[in-house]
Amino acid sequence: MAIATLAGIRAEEMEEVYAQFIAAYPEYLDTAVLDHLRRTEYRRLDDLDHVYLDYTGGGLYADSQLTEHLQLLRNNVFGNPHSHNPSSLAMTELVDQARQAVLDHFHTTADDYVVIFTSNASGALKLVGESYPFAPRGHYALCADDHNSVNGIREFARARGATVHYVPLTSPNLQMDKVELEKILDRKAPGESGLFAFPAQSNYSGAKHPLSYVHDAQARGWDVLLDCAAFAPSNDLDLGIWKPDFATFSFYKIFGYPTGIGALLVRRKTLPKLQRPWFAGGTVKIVSVQAFGHYLADGEAAFEEGTINYLNIPAVAIGLRHINEVGLDTIQKRVRCLTGWLLDQLAGLRHSNGRMLVKVHGPTDLDLRGGTITMSFFDPDGLPISGQLIEQLAAAAHISLRTGCFCNPGSGEAAFGLPKELMQQFFVDAKGMHFAELVEVINKARGVDVSAVRISVGLASNFADVYRFILFARGFADRTGSSFETESFAVERTARDAS
Ligand SMILES: Cc1ncc(COP(=O)(O)O)c(C=O)c1O
Repeated sequence: MAIATLAGIRAEEMEEVYAQFIAAYPEYLDTAVLDHLRRTEYRRLDDLDHVYLDYTGGGLYADSQLTEHLQLLRNNVFGNPHSHNPSSLAMTELVDQARQAVLDHFHTTADDYVVIFTSNASGALKLVGESYPFAPRGHYALCADDHNSVNGIREFARARGATVHYVPLTSPNLQMDKVELEKILDRKAPGESGLFAFPAQSNYSGAKHPLSYVHDAQARGWDVLLDCAAFAPSNDLDLGIWKPDFATFSFYKIFGYPTGIGALLVRRKTLPKLQRPWFAGGTVKIVSVQAFGHYLADGEAAFEEGTINYLNIPAVAIGLRHINEVGLDTIQKRVRCLTGWLLDQLAGLRHSNGRMLVKVHGPTDLDLRGGTITMSFFDPDGLPISGQLIEQLAAAAHISLRTGCFCNPGSGEAAFGLPKELMQQFFVDAKGMHFAELVEVINKARGVDVSAVRISVGLASNFADVYRFILFARGFADRTGSSFETESFAVERTARDAS
């Protein structure tokens, strides 16, 4: 099958495969409400013939979220919430409602957690990094599966003399190594400070790391930072049960709109440990220039620097309401069924010489995983097909997927078995290099393409989306990367000529 003609898939064939899918995953039928939403709230996907498979990159918004938010803005006079005039007070009320909606969504209360609005998950993580009392004889433990915005906290820890420990991943499942984790957690002596940061779900492999690690670390005196950015879009996080000291989110990943707002949830009892490195407008009670003094504001206000994204914050409450009306259980069930089927199909993809076409990095069954699947493609001789080529061909087939290492270098290193000595040699030159150069050098040295291909499903995904992806993947059977070069350049040229 030619990659570029996937739009012409045969409906009868898909019906037949769908029947087999339902036989294997009958609970998918319980999620029919999402098919209705796909036809109404998310119809632009089908109107534009688009297969969206990048929910880990960003969620999709429903039409009604936009309408409701715009109506709110059109019908009210809102001012900067930092004062006491009526337009300001009206805004403050909506910001308070959004904070409450966040607490409700994560099953907790203002007695237990403070909600700090940030510009995204990275902003929330940076607040922890710069405020946590890292010190000599203190510790920062993190997971090799962390996103770079969690890896980056190690620079705050190092600068202040704390020891940094990485918990490695097991191969091939890319789960956190529990034995190593326990060894690291035991290295903190009583009285020493220690922060342990891990993702509830990997943005690379989709692996879920047990939330019970929150309790295990806290029982040994560690504070815990749970990065929920990739977990929260299709899983219910109960902060009434799991009580990480810090939890971080980006709302666009959960419900698509608005971008530019994330949150740091801090356990109220941990809040006094945080030391703000500076103050800004909005974060202080009073400041004197002559007396050179300042008093920090209480609670979340000490962390929300300058003017918050106030006109967009009400859209957080709207988005959360939408998710709760749909039901996270329903979203999770759909994601699980589609992911299970994708994994089954990917495992069966073969060239006619029997060699595998696709290798999945990370969990290959539904145990301890979410709806993100990262993989590499191989030709009939077992040589890698470049991620870049796959992305180009996917784009021509109207499929949105991702390639690269997804800001998660530790998982990439583990997935491709890249040893420390190899990686060290890329960090001796002050000039540095870009990821594309790294891919090229490693490819030459070891014959692997470390630019992996990532797909992820979510709230608006349906069977047709994953079916089309599998047809796309099947199009690589018995082909080498170079056999596509001419075809892909032709596709590119046609697109250019048409525009
Ligand atoms: C697990 C994880 N943590 C943190 C982030 C950072 O989120 P943002 O880019 O919205 O700050 C991401 C983004 O993809 C992520 O997947």
